[in-house]
Amino acid sequence: MERRTIVVTRRLPGVPWDDLAKRFRAGGPPGEGTMPREEFLARARGASGILCTLADRVDAELMDAAGLSLVVVSNFAVGVDNVDVAGATRRGIRVCNTPDVLTDATADLGFVLLLSAARKVSDADRFVRAGGWTGWDPWGLLGVPVAGKTLGIVGMGKIGAGVARRSRGFSMKVLYHNRRRVPPSEEAGLAASYRDLDALLAESDFVVLCVPLTPETRGLISAERLGRMKRTAVLVNIARGEVVDEEAVATALAEGRLFGAGLDVYEKEPRVHPKLLASPSAVLLPHLGSATGETREAMGRLATENLLAALDGREPPCPVN
Ligand code: GLV
Repeated sequence: MERRTIVVTRRLPGVPWDDLAKRFRAGGPPGEGTMPREEFLARARGASGILCTLADRVDAELMDAAGLSLVVVSNFAVGVDNVDVAGATRRGIRVCNTPDVLTDATADLGFVLLLSAARKVSDADRFVRAGGWTGWDPWGLLGVPVAGKTLGIVGMGKIGAGVARRSRGFSMKVLYHNRRRVPPSEEAGLAASYRDLDALLAESDFVVLCVPLTPETRGLISAERLGRMKRTAVLVNIARGEVVDEEAVATALAEGRLFGAGLDVYEKEPRVHPKLLASPSAVLLPHLGSATGETREAMGRLATENLLAALDGREPPCPVN
């Protein structure tokens, strides 16, 4: 066994804990839940590698606690907003993530939310289970159509492109906004037209958020921007909760200024805004974007390979810095 220490913050699909524990000092077996902060700080002391999830905060305090031994932070997620990447770079610490393997699962979930909010699937399911259904009703639970409508994708990365590809089956017109316009050949391949954000919000029947959380995207969908959307529109968030003003979305739904919202992510997970919980027009999922067995196994294998490559002095497959 090596003298180097690693921290794996919880039991994770695809992460071969037993093999890792044979090679490195790894402390006790990881638990089933998010590691308490105090334990994370204590276990990080003197560690060379950390394999963590989006629920673990890797900030200056954590990296200071780890000290000079820390070589790599391997995040079991594509988003790295839980990691102070600039601080890690200054300290010479490699940060890695798990892109690509979760693109399809996450784009699928974007469409699940789009269709579910358009056709009131959660509300209808609750209605049936509550015994409220007394017979076919020509007026009941009317949704908005999807086919042929305009889809606005905010963040045309791999997941955004996946959402655009799925929309072809519904003959949707696709608009997108991105910090950089994508090359014309890619635009043509995706049959997507660039718009500035305000124009996209005003024109779209469905807006799907696929941006990473950065200082530029925090609070991007403000009350003012929501006010630009059609009253018949649906907002889908598969990015990060902090991209959206949750209170403003709940208010717009309550006042009938937005038809529906499909949300997988929240400002203060696992807390969900009480006004959203009370809204029949909101479809609420518990951060399931990458949640298929195959995808989570692939994420774990990739996170492990990132960790080991960096520890062995090789180039990791998915470095962020
Ligand atoms: C999930 O939200 C991820 O970033 O992988």
